[in-house]
Amino acid sequence: MKILITGGAGFIGSHVVRLFVTKYPEYQIFNLDKLTYAGNLENLRDIENASNYNFIKGDIVDAEFINSIFQQEAFDAVIHLAAESHVDRSITDPLAFVFTNVIGTVNLLNAAKEQWKGNFDGHLFYHVSTDEVYGSLGEEGMFTEETPYDPRSPYSASKASSDHFVRAYHETYGLPVKVSNCSNNYGPNHFPEKLIPLAINNIKNGKPVPVYGKGENVRDWLFVKDHATAIDAVFHKGKIGDTYNIGGVNEWKNIDLIRLLCDIMDEKTGEPQGTSQQLITFVTDRAGHDLRYAIDSSKIMHELDWKPSVTFEEGLSKTVDWYLENKEWLQHVTSGSYQDYYQTQYTR
Ligand code: NAD
Ligand code: DAU
Repeated sequence: MKILITGGAGFIGSHVVRLFVTKYPEYQIFNLDKLTYAGNLENLRDIENASNYNFIKGDIVDAEFINSIFQQEAFDAVIHLAAESHVDRSITDPLAFVFTNVIGTVNLLNAAKEQWKGNFDGHLFYHVSTDEVYGSLGEEGMFTEETPYDPRSPYSASKASSDHFVRAYHETYGLPVKVSNCSNNYGPNHFPEKLIPLAINNIKNGKPVPVYGKGENVRDWLFVKDHATAIDAVFHKGKIGDTYNIGGVNEWKNIDLIRLLCDIMDEKTGEPQGTSQQLITFVTDRAGHDLRYAIDSSKIMHELDWKPSVTFEEGLSKTVDWYLENKEWLQHVTSGSYQDYYQTQYTR
């Protein structure tokens, strides 16, 4: 089987590529990535010479290019992760999210439909999406696969749009699709614009740790390698046309999570307990900041026999170790344009 994985040089994509390359030596894996600021081939150094791994640099917004690689390689299946993924960037530049997340997805759907036309058997277009499409929860309740869509940021609106297109291609043309909607991931290779790696990097450098608003917002955190195993389960065992919610059953208020992270950092760096917590700084809230996300994962757990493999404490500890051990990686991704981004985002 020839599988196209888009966005494989990014955070989650690199873990999915690694899992598929190592677990399924009989598959040929093609990683298609534009290598934006978030794409990094250093994430895949350990598997880049594997005989079943292939890298293609390219932009999913370029329809002609996408059609040509489908004709050239005749992929059997697609796992689509490429996206603009950061909510704060979507607030300053919504159009970039429309291009990649909406138009890029439709370009891939068109190319797959054209390539597989007349015979959809044995083919699959698997779209990786987010729980943010369901909107914001109050104190109670969880997102299920039946929760109506209510996206509230330009990022989630663009992901919701792409989800709708994927399902529309299934209903209209019979394209074999699957969709999964996952909660917040954390772990190695996470770009330090997102809360957890940003906080680790700032604590490491003795810089303020910015917490939006009062830190009351709640997220449901899942270790990235557990998301990759969930994607494997949906890809191989999920039903065509179905949606699967994936979450960690692991809700944390931002401020509680940051306090825990500070304590883990103090412990691992030999600082007295309480040192890093002094860096916590409350800053202007994110516009339209969703209060709470929580995923009901019972469908994937019962139907596909998937569950998270690590507790949050174990996962966070492994994550902190990874960032402390991979200084060079962190240095590379926080030089250059990251400094400009940080300046603009945090000195408003
Ligand atoms: P990321 O930002 O770390 O990586 C995105 C990757 O896509 C990068 O390698 C980037 O170079 C590539 N890319 C961006 N635009 C492209 C384009 N036009 N053409 C080709 N490649 C392009 O993102 P991530 O956090 O790994 O998320 C991956 C997917 O999972 C996204 O679809 C995201 O919506 C979804 N998701 C993320 C989370 C999370 O917590 N990070 C949770 C649920 C779902
Ligand atoms: O829920 C899944 C989504 O999780 C994914 O679809 C997105 O791609 C991913 O980026 C993530 O979105 P969030 O906006 O929840 O993640 P982020 O790490 O940006 O923020 C987590 C929480 O922390 C959120 O409530 C905002 C807050 N925050 C974030 C940053 C960057 C802060 O308080 N300070 C910060 O500096």
